[in-house]
Amino acid sequence: HVLGVDLGTSSIKVIVVDEAGSVVKEAVQPLNIFHEKSGYSEQDPEEWVEKTLLALKEIGGTGTEEIEALSFSGQMHGLVLVDESGMALRNAILWNDTRTTKECGEIIQTVGSDRMVGITKNTALEGFTLPKLLWVKKHEPEVLEKAYRFLLPKDYLRYRLTGELNMEYSDAAGTLLLDVQHREWSRELCEALGLDFSLCPPLVESTAQTGHLNAETLKATGLSGNVKVFAGGADNACGAIGAGILAEGDALCSIGTSGVILSYEATGDKDFGGTIHYFNHAAPEAFYTMGVTLAAGDSLSWFRNTFAPDMGFEELLAGIKEVPSGSNGLLFTPYISGERTPHIDSSIRGGFNGIDTSHTRNHFMRAVVEGITFSLKESLEIIRNYGKQIDRIISIGGGAKNAEWLQIQADIFDAEIVKLKTEQGPAMGAAMIAAVGSGWFDSLKACAVTFTEEAESFKPSKKQVEQYKEVYELYKQVYPATKDLN
Ligand code: XUL
Repeated sequence: HVLGVDLGTSSIKVIVVDEAGSVVKEAVQPLNIFHEKSGYSEQDPEEWVEKTLLALKEIGGTGTEEIEALSFSGQMHGLVLVDESGMALRNAILWNDTRTTKECGEIIQTVGSDRMVGITKNTALEGFTLPKLLWVKKHEPEVLEKAYRFLLPKDYLRYRLTGELNMEYSDAAGTLLLDVQHREWSRELCEALGLDFSLCPPLVESTAQTGHLNAETLKATGLSGNVKVFAGGADNACGAIGAGILAEGDALCSIGTSGVILSYEATGDKDFGGTIHYFNHAAPEAFYTMGVTLAAGDSLSWFRNTFAPDMGFEELLAGIKEVPSGSNGLLFTPYISGERTPHIDSSIRGGFNGIDTSHTRNHFMRAVVEGITFSLKESLEIIRNYGKQIDRIISIGGGAKNAEWLQIQADIFDAEIVKLKTEQGPAMGAAMIAAVGSGWFDSLKACAVTFTEEAESFKPSKKQVEQYKEVYELYKQVYPATKDLN
């Protein structure tokens, strides 16, 4: 068996996977998030370690001598600062923390937009790590002075479990300090922004072995000292691996708290002008582009918690097929915590447009689902406009749990939507890295052939595609028309 450990935002999930790719056991431990001020989002790195050890202990009963290897997937971009003894110097500042709007402006002013995209292939966003480093430098200089290295969440977790301090490329890509194409830290950016270059940790391949579990971990979990540890990847990269996104033309729609449209890229030499994220994949030598809707599943949760707290998601979503496409003129924009792609605007807020007396809760529910999907279409459109042909998309996460929503994706994206037989998200991608590392397969591609199975396919209907095109044109007008109202 191999283990996939996913350090998510709301929980730690550990899965035990056998050679056929079946999950034989899993353990989940919830995590606390602290929102000390509006826009702040932090976690205690110590809690990641404690909860991971608990989860590993929970699965420990599964004949631990059979566990050959373990790898990680993790929430991206979060800043963890460690001192020389390896202790975190403050809470981690997470990917969904938006306190750094000012720092993003300063980065672009100092470095210049073209140079920034030239080096990192991406643009400055509140969510990324570099602006967080600059925020700490400005507001907590004493903390940065004590810092020995900065790490990302799952790299910190791996460090604590093994004692080996490093960062792998797919997560390093999301820091905004990595030269993504040439795969090295940018000394130029550190110098321009007054950051000590030595803060950047050593880089390793996502598929590299990074030691063994240390004595403390073995004692706390009951695992065996022979378990090999592999570096792992960013959650979106691992989610893509877990869904078999490993070749040119492969694309993914993943809806969790945030939602992403992700497309495989064979090379890192393209220029998307920072309009879309462009990162190193956790699969060797590969890259991917990605657009992010900040509140995808989160819009759904907000709607349920606010208007139907006694209903489950399944029951609530069952109502969307009672309502025609376009929700009878009701339109939702999911900017309830700002928007990443394409607007890069943390202050915009969402809304319902066109409410009339005929609308029921089902119309509102369908409008929320359609609004999330329109937002993701904006990312897809950017990638397509750069010449990528995307006719087929694997859909995973919350958006793949309801057949009507899968059909809505097919009609709004104008692409065939494929649902997988079973999906474990990023944890499975991590387990696949461990499986290949253990020698079970020659490559991640070979592993995906055994581990991923397609279940159902949803084809776009011409009539609905045309109808949604019209609604989408209206959707795109809402942002420019309302951005100054928030
Ligand atoms: C990606 C991003 C989120 C986190 C969620 O850029 O910020 O998808 O990775 O864990």
